[in-house]
Amino acid sequence: MSDLLAKLYPQHLRTLRDRADAALARGGFDHLVVAAGVLRDQFLDDRPYPFAVNPHFKHWLPVTKAPGSWIAYTPGQKPKLIYLQPRDYWHVVPEAPAGYWVEHFDVAIIHEARDALAHLPKSLPRCAIIGEDIAALGEAKPNNPDRVLNYLHWQRSYKTDYELAMLRVASKLGVRAHCAAEAAFRAGKSEYDINTAYLNAVHETENELPYGNIIALNQHGAILHYTDLNRAPPAHADSFLIDAGASFHGYASDITRTYAATPAREFQELIDAVDAAQRGFVQRVRRGQNYADLHVHAHHVLAGILREQDFIRLSAEGAVESGVSSAFFPHGLGHPLGLQVHDVAGFQKDESGGTIPRPPGHPYLRFTRTLEPRMVTTIEPGIYFIDMLLARLKAGPHAQDVNWPKVDAFRRYGGIRIEDDVVCTEGEPENLTRDAFAAA
Ligand code: GLY
Ligand code: MN
Ligand code: MN
Repeated sequence: MSDLLAKLYPQHLRTLRDRADAALARGGFDHLVVAAGVLRDQFLDDRPYPFAVNPHFKHWLPVTKAPGSWIAYTPGQKPKLIYLQPRDYWHVVPEAPAGYWVEHFDVAIIHEARDALAHLPKSLPRCAIIGEDIAALGEAKPNNPDRVLNYLHWQRSYKTDYELAMLRVASKLGVRAHCAAEAAFRAGKSEYDINTAYLNAVHETENELPYGNIIALNQHGAILHYTDLNRAPPAHADSFLIDAGASFHGYASDITRTYAATPAREFQELIDAVDAAQRGFVQRVRRGQNYADLHVHAHHVLAGILREQDFIRLSAEGAVESGVSSAFFPHGLGHPLGLQVHDVAGFQKDESGGTIPRPPGHPYLRFTRTLEPRMVTTIEPGIYFIDMLLARLKAGPHAQDVNWPKVDAFRRYGGIRIEDDVVCTEGEPENLTRDAFAAA
């Protein structure tokens, strides 16, 4: 793997340098400075929150645990890494830089955070400084200029070959752990123990994962971001929804599967229908496909399933127009994926910024752009039985269009979500998740 990354990295770096050159020209700056970030203590305590590196920093190099470090880049020059290795016997000191990327940087090792200042460009007002406010070091205060950030965020949507290689690995790691989690579910384990099986297989700590695992048995599947972990197994585990990913050098996978216990055949039938629909949506991840249109298309298809399986008794069109479909599918079809699980620029109009609004009535959609090769998106349709939304539906004008005995019988399963990570290419979409399951 590291041979492949070593081979792909120089082109990745060239692309980042080209993008930085263009971004600086647009913003009228001479240097790009990126703060990795700093540790932040919890209120009235001396324990820091888990460190989350600035995504702009890990874009340049596969280093995610280097608080107090900086990158400084000046067009035409080798980028510089100012790397903090504190003299500290209380904590782990970040390892000396090593690997395929090191030769591409001028590396300055510092031992005190404040010493970074001496290595940054002399004229700080000529710098676009990207980072959190609290990363400020003396006069080196992050200014995060819009013109620079908008351009960089727009370009970040187009993954380099190096990044796609990273994302493939992140998917493989996540799928390996999903298989372990399914086995734990089939063995009757609790949510807590399923999560432990996942962590053992993914070989990452919870802080290293790209987001908090969602491990939901039965009705818990109806809580979209359920992150409790019941210690005791339920008397009967009828269904299992798992939304969990993995990180590889700061790149994320975001994967959801839903399983029915063997006797729950009626629920399996609904899972199969959502699964078939999901594969159809993945097939539409192609150049020129507008994502908001795909989301609305998904509503029509899912409403069709609800009608075919006799949950609702109005047409798919009627269900979408009236908002009935949103009671069962109340989130977006997906979002850009990359260095962040919900990656940047999902609504951006062009490289200068701007916003493409969501279609009315779809407040949770995170992606409204038109797909192009090298974009990576999730495709994650769902059908849920959420008490709060069903109560609203029952109190509304379309209550009589719902087959309540059937809907009520499905509440105990919680819901279904099936989520794959998909690369838009010049031809067939590349399904990172299904490829990884096929190989597992
Ligand atoms: N895991 C969060 C999401 O699917 O967006
Ligand atoms: Mn997702
Ligand atoms: Mn997810």
